[in-house]
Amino acid sequence: MAGVIARYHRFLPVDPRHIVTLEEGNTPLLEAPRLSEAIFGEGRCPKLFLKLEGLNPTGSFKDRGMTYAVSKAREEGYQAVICASTGNTSASAAAYAARAGMGAYVVIPKGKIARGKLAQALIYGARVVAVQGGFDEALEIVKALAQEGRAALVNSVNPYRLEGQKTVAFEICEQLGQPPTHHLLPVGNAGNITATWRGYKEFCQTGPKMFGFQAAGAAPIVLGRPVKNPKTVASAIQIGNPASWQGALEAREESGGLIDKVTDREILKAYQMIARLTGYFCEPASAAGVAGLIKYAGTFKPGDRIVCTLTGHGLKDPDRAVAVSAAPISVPADLGKVKKALRI
Ligand code: F0G
Repeated sequence: MAGVIARYHRFLPVDPRHIVTLEEGNTPLLEAPRLSEAIFGEGRCPKLFLKLEGLNPTGSFKDRGMTYAVSKAREEGYQAVICASTGNTSASAAAYAARAGMGAYVVIPKGKIARGKLAQALIYGARVVAVQGGFDEALEIVKALAQEGRAALVNSVNPYRLEGQKTVAFEICEQLGQPPTHHLLPVGNAGNITATWRGYKEFCQTGPKMFGFQAAGAAPIVLGRPVKNPKTVASAIQIGNPASWQGALEAREESGGLIDKVTDREILKAYQMIARLTGYFCEPASAAGVAGLIKYAGTFKPGDRIVCTLTGHGLKDPDRAVAVSAAPISVPADLGKVKKALRI
């Protein structure tokens, strides 16, 4: 059987009868020479790799932790799961619950999640409620509801989520044959940076410098205080009070890395560059790591091995892709007019 629990069962103990998997993980680690050259200039490029987490079954890295959290919930006798989400966690929770034949309760911030993610939660059959508030408030509500015991909380405050998510670092070490020198990734609720760092420590004893990037309008860890009304185009990381704040600080300190912010403009520039220079389409939040790479380009050396996690698939948020691109030129179905419009 495939999936991260089967591959890394030593690290993810669970009764095999209760494993719920969509065969997640084993995602490509794609080398990106044209992107590296555009960022660093010809001749002095470090090796740059993109971990394509958008190629997981529901299109984001969340599936690694969700397979384990839902399996453990089933083992513990739960009939349902519950989560708050900026979109991807809810898509993943709803899918794994469907797979298991369990119920899924989802609370999202109204109008603040990308269309593809909402479509996923709905089609998988979750009961979805949109609250007039932000992610942070939604998380407080589901935490209180989970206390009543009718559904297992599967946000990353659930320790099994982080355990499963560690497997991304295991795979990178296997794919490269050693840990990278630097690992860059977006930071929202800060579970992923926490889990990735722990994964390196457990699997390789050592790890890369962890560089985490928050959106400038949602950068509580950088500011050192919660942000009341976080705002960014990268809706996945529009979070003002991260649950794994402490874990992110540990990852930064223990690895000798950093946590900084990137502006929406920098995120969208990286978002377009990734698509055009690699052929891989990620969602806006995923581009925050590459935006950080551009910001810190001067600190890297040609011998470095850099990994950026691209956390979610671009098709999650088609509206943003269309908004940042020139609209197609509309012409009559006429050879000459099409030729002229295409400038071919
Ligand atoms: N990238 C994407 C695409 C995400 O969906 C998230 C988080 C992150 C990065 C940040 O990861 O929270 O572990 O620091 N999405 C959560 C959700 C909050 O509800 O889907 P993090």
